[in-house]
Order: sequence, then structure tokens, then C-alpha cells
Amino acid sequence: MTEYLNETVFTWGGVPLKFGAGAVDEIGHDLGQLGADRVLVVTDPGIAEAGIAQRVADAATAAGLTVGIYDRVHVEPTDTSFAEAVEFAGQSEWDGFIGVGGGSSIDTAKAINLLTTYPGELHDYLNKPIGEGKAPPGPLKPLVAVPTTAGTGAESTPVCVLDMLSLKVKTGISHPRLRPSLAVVDPLLTLGLPPEVTAASGMDVLCHALESYTAKPYDAFPRHTPETRVAYCGSNPISDLWAEKAMSLLGGAFRRAVLTGGDLAARTDMMMAATFAGMGFGNAGVHIPHACGYPIAGMVRDYVPSGYPDAPLVPHGQSVSLTAPAAFRFTFPTDPARHQRAARLLAPDTTPHDDPREQLPSVLAALMRDIGIPSGLGEVGYGKSDIDGLVDGAMKQQRLLAVAPRPVGADDLAAIFLDSFENW
Ligand SMILES: NC(=O)c1ccc[n+]([C@@H]2O[C@H](COP(=O)([O-])OP(=O)(O)OC[C@H]3O[C@@H](n4cnc5c(N)ncnc54)[C@H](O)[C@@H]3O)[C@@H](O)[C@H]2O)c1
Ligand SMILES: [Fe+2]
Repeated sequence: MTEYLNETVFTWGGVPLKFGAGAVDEIGHDLGQLGADRVLVVTDPGIAEAGIAQRVADAATAAGLTVGIYDRVHVEPTDTSFAEAVEFAGQSEWDGFIGVGGGSSIDTAKAINLLTTYPGELHDYLNKPIGEGKAPPGPLKPLVAVPTTAGTGAESTPVCVLDMLSLKVKTGISHPRLRPSLAVVDPLLTLGLPPEVTAASGMDVLCHALESYTAKPYDAFPRHTPETRVAYCGSNPISDLWAEKAMSLLGGAFRRAVLTGGDLAARTDMMMAATFAGMGFGNAGVHIPHACGYPIAGMVRDYVPSGYPDAPLVPHGQSVSLTAPAAFRFTFPTDPARHQRAARLLAPDTTPHDDPREQLPSVLAALMRDIGIPSGLGEVGYGKSDIDGLVDGAMKQQRLLAVAPRPVGADDLAAIFLDSFENW
């Protein structure tokens, strides 16, 4: 057998998908096909208030299913909020779940599915070194994910993310068995999404696309065996296709979706961009901006964003975008052509910056300013004295930093944070 030093194989996994206006009305039929009869809808109070969860529950009930609703998901879930949700779900027998909402609701549904199907505690399954990193012992129950943000891509990824309150750190569970059984993506559900959530969750999509597109190429990693091959395998020709298409959709629709929320064409393109970016990063991986975003969100003090529940939090999409201009300035030398191409896809009608290295950072800063993202770390409550803590938190995300296209040490991260206090 030929001996290879570098990886020659990449993998691509996905979730069956139903996409389009009105798709959610068919959910009863879809759950029936998956063999679920008693299903729990998992959602947060804001989505319940918007009537979206009830609409999904009604569609399932009309198809003859028995439906319960848990509407107390915590926005940006925590170990405590997961425990409450699992406790509620454990009081009845369910043979399927529907996660209706943004990443917070879909991730909570994933955790409920795992922790009510098999014995064991959250800690057993959390990624190492924070948890034991155990694999789910067997297949999970059917889970249909219905995203209402465009968005995290949680409907197609094998991960769920949570905030460990005691440790002030975000971590998650990642295993292919966590992938939903079906994603039902209906752009009509996003017409009432507040502009601030449209902006933040759209920046999450953008970072997914950009980070997976600029990730270390799969064939620059050492050769794996089938057993050791990781879920995030680095950029590869198939993930690249999804990322490029997601970026050109964002280039056409993002500002319109934020500024004129009821524009169905823009909402549809944003939903498609989120789905496509999910199909890309869910395999290739994300790197520096996401690694930095975790401590930015986890160490929050008193920043309360508008458009979100009235509590201190840095929404995921804001937290990952704040260091993106600086991070892509840092990764530029690894593949200048790719960074320049990304800038053109995102801003096809803009005259490129004279300095090639500044093209992508300047496109990002202009977009973030136009859609109302905070200008940098200062605006979300951090000072220069927080840099050491932020660096420590980002250094814990080695699973993500391993996918960066060049080695990233603590000094590099400190420079990136320092460069991110004011992006314009
Ligand atoms: N599993 C993954 O692959 C993955 C990837 C990235 C992020 N995440 C996680 O996802 C979470 C963030 O998810 P998100 O950005 O999708 O937002 P979210 O689920 O936190 O929701 C944000 C806010 O928007 C409201 N909202 C959502 N949809 C609405 C609608 N259609 N109409 C009116 N209001 C609506 C919600 O009520 C909530 O107040 C974070 O916890 C993040 O860590 C998970
Ligand atoms: Fe994300």
C-alpha cells in the first residue's frame, strides 16, 4: 500500500433538507416519515411570542401527531438552561423533537435528544478538556430542525454550543450523531426577525463562509486513519463551493435583509446563504474569529445588545465578527488570492482597496458599520486590560485554532484582539 505523509482524503456529511416558502407546513408528514408520533417542540420565549412555534405545532397536530411545547430555551444556552430543558423533557416520553428557532433552540433540542435518550450527564459528552468527550452510545431519536434565523447553520451541523457559567467559557458537544435528521428551512419564518438579530446572525453566516474558505487545506494536515479522521477536516473543494456561493448570496442580499426586513427575496437568499455556509463549515471547520468569539461572549460583563432579551450578552454573531477584520489581515499571506476573491464576492460593486491585504478587512468593516454591528471590542465593554483573559479563552479553542491556515500562538491572538478595539 502507498504510504502517504499528508492527508489525501476529505469527508463531507450533511442533513437531508427541505427548503422554501411554506416548507414548514409539511412538517407533520415529514415527522410521520421519520417514525415519530409524540414530539416535543423546543423553542425560546421570543419565537413562541411571535407565534412561530405554535404554527409548527399546529402543522404537526394536523397530521395526527401528539405535540408538546417547551418554550423556555435560554437565548445563548448555558449548562443550567440545558439542565432545565432536559428535566422538563424527561417528565414525558417523546419519540421525536422539533427544534424551532435560532441556534439557541436547535442546540437545546440536540442536547435534550442526547440526554433524554441515553443515561449520563452533560459533562460526559462535552468536548475535552472541559468534559469527557464521550460519544453518544447509539443513534438518537428523530430531530427536525426548523431555523428561524439566517443563521448559525445549526440545522446541518453535528454540534451544540453552550456557555459553562461557572467556567465563563463556551464549549459544546460535537459528534456526527448530533446532526438533525432533517432540516426544514422556510424563509417565511424570518420575515419578522428584528434587524439587530438579522445583522448579528448574518455576520455569523459570513464568518462561517469566510473561515471555512480560508481554513487550512485538508491536504496540509498529516494523514489520518479512518478512526482518527476529524469532523472539521479543513478547506476542501466541496466546502469551497458552498462557501463561495454563500458569499455571493450575502454580497447581494445582506444589507437589504437588515434594512428592509420584509423583503422575501432578500430573506430567501440569506436563508440559502446560511444553509450553504453550514454545509461548508460543518465539514471544513471555522478558526480564529470563532475561537476569539467564544471568550468575547463568555466574559461579557454588562453589555446589553438591543433586539435581544434584556440581559448582558454578546450575541454569537457579534462576538465572532468583531475580530474578523484583524484575523483575515493575519491570515492574508497564506493565500492572498483567496482573500481577494472573497472580498470581491462579498462586495462585487465596490472598488477594491489599493492595498490587497486590506481588501477583505475594509469590505467587512464597511458592511458591519452599515448594518449596525458594534465597532469593536471597546463598544461591547472590553478594555486593554482584558486582553490576557481573552487570549487565555481563545487559546482553549485548540480544536478550532488547528484549522487556522497558519500557526496561531498567544502573541498572535493578543495582536489580533488589540487590532480589534475599533474596526472603523
Ligand atoms: N450548533 C451550531 O453549529 C452553532 C453554530 C453557531 C452558533 N451556535 C449557537 O447558536 C446560538 C445563536 O443562535 P442565533 O444567532 O441563531 O440566535 P438565537 O437562537 O440566540 O436567537 C436570537 C434572538 O432572536 C429571536 N428570534 C429568532 N428568530 C426569530 C424570528 N424569526 N422572529 C422573531 N424573533 C426571532 C429569539 O427569540 C432570540 O431572542 C449561540 O448559542 C451560538 O453559540 C451554534
Ligand atoms: Fe458561528
